[in-house]
Amino acid sequence: MHIALLGRQPALSIAELERTYKRVSWFSADTALVDTDSIDIQKLGGTQKAGKVAFEVQSTNDWRRVSDAIVAHYSKKWGTYDGKITLGLSAYGVDVNVRDLQKVGLILKGKLKGKGASIRLIPNQEVALSSATSHHNKLGLADNKVELLIIKGGKSIIVAESTGAQNITALAARDQGRPRRDAFVGMLPPKLAQIMINLAGEITKDPESDLTSPRILDPFCGTGVLLQEASLMGYAVYGTDIAEKMIRYSRDNLNWLESTYRFTTQWYLHEGDAVDTKWQQPVDAVVSETYLGQPFSAPPSLAKLTEVRGNCNHIITGFLRNLHPQLKPGTPVVIAVPAWKDTEGRFTHLPLIDTISELGFEQVKFESVPTEQLLYHRPDQVVARELLVLTTI
Ligand SMILES: C[S@@+](CC[C@H](N)C(=O)[O-])C[C@H]1O[C@@H](n2cnc3c(N)ncnc32)[C@H](O)[C@@H]1O
Repeated sequence: MHIALLGRQPALSIAELERTYKRVSWFSADTALVDTDSIDIQKLGGTQKAGKVAFEVQSTNDWRRVSDAIVAHYSKKWGTYDGKITLGLSAYGVDVNVRDLQKVGLILKGKLKGKGASIRLIPNQEVALSSATSHHNKLGLADNKVELLIIKGGKSIIVAESTGAQNITALAARDQGRPRRDAFVGMLPPKLAQIMINLAGEITKDPESDLTSPRILDPFCGTGVLLQEASLMGYAVYGTDIAEKMIRYSRDNLNWLESTYRFTTQWYLHEGDAVDTKWQQPVDAVVSETYLGQPFSAPPSLAKLTEVRGNCNHIITGFLRNLHPQLKPGTPVVIAVPAWKDTEGRFTHLPLIDTISELGFEQVKFESVPTEQLLYHRPDQVVARELLVLTTI
């Protein structure tokens, strides 16, 4: 059993896990239990850290009990270990301060002195080490680099051994190092691109395909963030966009990615309006941040909202109508569409969502979250991205 520390939008993160690992359940508001033997964290956009569950303490507020259990478990486990162990401690939701947390490490260090592992304890600035600190110290990436994740749930506290933290430095380098950026079309965060690709579930290659990997189409590819993340995840990619400039930008960014990360991928780009383009086959999945309309810094008037929503609905409906006959039944389609937040924090959705089956698509249902919670937004944003996870009927 593994436990995952979810990102800033836990509903999206748990949906990503459910689609990837199937048996998933909430442990607390921002953590999830995942019934799997291993988790590849660098392929997940929505999980900050993951760990293998070591043991569970049936109490939520007795730090002494947790501390004693950790000392007992690890002084036994490392009592015969011959070598150095780098140890990091991170507590989530647990009622403990930095001093008491570090004390556990110091007690353990003392107990093992002269008879087993020697421990180098990573100092805590906060009760939880940042993902950057964990990743930088390679915690969870070798047997002797251990980070204990101490996580409070509804009825118990779980102690897990981290199997790695999200490499946010690499994500930021991809995001900021790209030669072509365009603030106006708005750039998809790479983490959200990874989440969207994983929400497509298992993508299988068309048996008639000449390509070596399944191919993902993004018909609104813009600067190509989704194409970049998909190619790093091993997919062949196909991008189209109505703007010639965006095709150039995607091409430059993909060339940059290949030379920076020293790999080659199969990619194909051309200009095209998503409402009437005939795409080349194979298309094994469609994953796309579609047209989101204009950005707003404050909620628009009702008249303006009606106009923008109608316009987006028209373009995206036209796109789905054009797309459907070009896909084989069962093809996964994951699209981000706009939803607008009002001053009370309520969202106005696109009308097409309620009639999606008339367009030939079925919404995938998740056990851990209702589909209407698959929204990505920041508190200061008016336009949210609503994720529609669909299967072609
Ligand atoms: C929200 S942006 C996508 C940004 C992209 N995910 C990225 O990372 O840069 C939407 C894109 O859709 C394109 N677009 C707008 N209407 C279109 C249409 N009818 N067909 C194809 N592309 C369209 C725009 O040129 C823009 O690049």
